[in-house]
Amino acid sequence: MLTKNAAGVKARKRLCMTVNGRAVEIEIDIRESLLDVLRDRLQFTGVKQGCSVGECGACTVLIDGTPMNSCIYLAAWAHGKTITTIEGLAQDGLLTPVQEAFVDEGAIQCGFCTPGVVLSTTAMVDSGKSFTHDEVRRELSGHLCRCTGYQKIVDAAERALREAATAADESPV
Ligand code: FES
Ligand code: FES
Repeated sequence: MLTKNAAGVKARKRLCMTVNGRAVEIEIDIRESLLDVLRDRLQFTGVKQGCSVGECGACTVLIDGTPMNSCIYLAAWAHGKTITTIEGLAQDGLLTPVQEAFVDEGAIQCGFCTPGVVLSTTAMVDSGKSFTHDEVRRELSGHLCRCTGYQKIVDAAERALREAATAADESPV
């Protein structure tokens, strides 16, 4: 049922989106953030809540393939969109090459920032573009790592990009 707030504006909305390949339909308060809907109501707890003001990148998800801070993105804006959280990457227990690169480079300490940086790196890899060292650092600059493991994170992202480029070169045309 739709209810109205004090100003007479409809405060609830039926949200339809795709999350990690599955269609989701849920009634939301139009003031809810995408972070709150994903984490608290749909239990995608890999979407981390850090600053809640768009400063730390912990809540990053991919929206139609683009990294976004879900804490400052209204859930209502996600209507009709495709969302990927960290839970949507590994399939049948197999990590993606980006996740493998983070493990292999030792880029994970407490892991709080890891879902966000892995998703941003995944977006870079999926773009098919090449990135210089400075461009990788800039793409990841919105992610704060409380464990300050920045060098390993950049190493992992560059490894993932390098391996993806090599795989593309070796794939049959
Ligand atoms: Fe969203 Fe920090 S929790 S940017
Ligand atoms: Fe701990 Fe980045 S690994 S916050």
